[in-house]
Amino acid sequence: MTRFAYPEGCFHIEPTPAQPQVAHCYGFFVFHHLRGKGLGHDLKQKQMSVLRGLGYDYATCTVDSNNQAQMRVLLWAGWDLLAEFKNSKTGGVTELWGCAIKKDAA
Ligand SMILES: CC(C)(COP(=O)(O)OP(=O)(O)OC[C@H]1O[C@@H](n2cnc3c(N)ncnc32)[C@H](O)[C@@H]1OP(=O)(O)O)[C@@H](O)C(=O)NCCC(=O)NCCS
Repeated sequence: MTRFAYPEGCFHIEPTPAQPQVAHCYGFFVFHHLRGKGLGHDLKQKQMSVLRGLGYDYATCTVDSNNQAQMRVLLWAGWDLLAEFKNSKTGGVTELWGCAIKKDAA
């Protein structure tokens, strides 16, 4: 488990088993008392920078279909909705999102 922590929140990034050029991101959150101030966007940019720095080519994450704030964060950062499925654990709908990781300009 690889956890990254910043003053505004935290996230995890793991290589996908058998395809280590694809990262799976999870556990992304802004500290409760700091939410609604635009820091979700800021933290996502830090995550994108970490993904570039670690040399990943592509990243995925999942999000509950009711989580409008996280969807705004993903869309703003250039992520795409790939698929959705009925989640037999939550009873809700879970979305799978993905993003190609652009390399830093040389
Ligand atoms: C999702 C989360 C990271 C967003 O962080 P945040 O700092 O609260 O969000 P921001 O202030 O940066 O706002 C991001 C966007 O979401 C919108 N938003 C914020 N709170 C919202 C809410 N409760 N409902 C709908 N939209 C909301 C903002 O208006 C903004 O939209 P914009 O880009 O159109 O201006 C944060 O709410 C959080 O940690 N939630 C709990 C954990 C979680 O759900 N993590 C995601 C797991 S996949």
